[in-house]
Amino acid sequence: MMQLELGELTPEQFLKEYWQKKPLVIRKGFSNFRDLLSPEEMAGLACDEMVESRRIYKEQGEWQAEFGPFDSYEHLGESGWTLVVQALNNWLPGAEQLIQCFDFIPRWRFDDVMVSYATPGGGVGPHIDLYDVFICQGSGRRRWRVGDRGEHREFAAHPALLHTEAFEPIIDVELLPGDILYLPPGYPHDGVTLEESMSFSVGYRTASAKDMVSALADHLIDNELGCEQIEDPDRVISLQSGRVDESDLARIKAQLLAKLDDRLISEFSGRYLTASKCELDLPEQSLGFQSTDILEMLKAQTLIRLGGLRVLYFDASVKQGLFYINGEEYQLSSALSDAIPFLCDQQQLSYSCIAPWLDSREFIEQLTLWVNAGFWYFEED
Ligand code: SIN
Ligand code: CO
Repeated sequence: MMQLELGELTPEQFLKEYWQKKPLVIRKGFSNFRDLLSPEEMAGLACDEMVESRRIYKEQGEWQAEFGPFDSYEHLGESGWTLVVQALNNWLPGAEQLIQCFDFIPRWRFDDVMVSYATPGGGVGPHIDLYDVFICQGSGRRRWRVGDRGEHREFAAHPALLHTEAFEPIIDVELLPGDILYLPPGYPHDGVTLEESMSFSVGYRTASAKDMVSALADHLIDNELGCEQIEDPDRVISLQSGRVDESDLARIKAQLLAKLDDRLISEFSGRYLTASKCELDLPEQSLGFQSTDILEMLKAQTLIRLGGLRVLYFDASVKQGLFYINGEEYQLSSALSDAIPFLCDQQQLSYSCIAPWLDSREFIEQLTLWVNAGFWYFEED
């Protein structure tokens, strides 16, 4: 089992002092860290067109970035290149154990696990990310330089590579297997591998208000919500025809904000936050199980949630049976609402943990639909 050690810090202290605030080097965050996969297995993933992969290297001093699938690496030689696979957790069930180590941060904030394989001298170049990341060093050594937050000019070193200008490092370290570099958004950084190396980046991401408001507008349009006009039946006489007075501005604002009640915000956010950015390893058609098959299989097998599947519920609506999976809202009868935290908080469901609801036809039929869709799958105990 993988165990995260934050050195002297408790998770509470880490959140209070570092999370979203400043970078941290955690030496031996994992003792005896073992790569989640081999470079050969990674190359296997990178030749699948469903998997998002990139290769970064320099050619005659110019940065190059290519998007997979890739089937050969020979021409790249033995140094100076990096292969990156995004959303490793969507394809490799073993990545879940790494994510679980960081579950003191809720999953709605989690984005993906990215794996990077680099040959000596390889790296993606100096850049700034918009997300928090725990870069967990696997085999090999890598030197990381991190600059301070501030005004850093960014430029396209290649159409697919946004770089930043040289920066003065506030951190300059060599990461060894099991070491972790935590970076909040906005800190320029540059990792150069010293010897053949693998690293596993557990990434967290939020959206900008602009992106969320734009998606919220789409949600209103798609569901014909918020169609009511702004009203002013209590109007009083106006003496300046060009003026919008304070009370009118307050009226517009209040009527707009009144549309954004908790129900709308949670319904929209639940869908938005569980929508998957990368492909999921889902079957092309229903797996065709019957409810009786599911009940039978549950006796001897454990249900596993598909890697990368996003699920969540809100305190405010879980008792009404509402929760969200993969961009959709689901509603169970409120009598079944206690099952929802099990479905969303736990990655594995054994017979005993869902036994209280298995005599409900509604529950077992819903579970059958999810298994047939590939959202949960069975694994031998
Ligand atoms: C890498 O692991 O190759 C790059 C990670 C990063 O700098 O975000
Ligand atoms: Co980065």
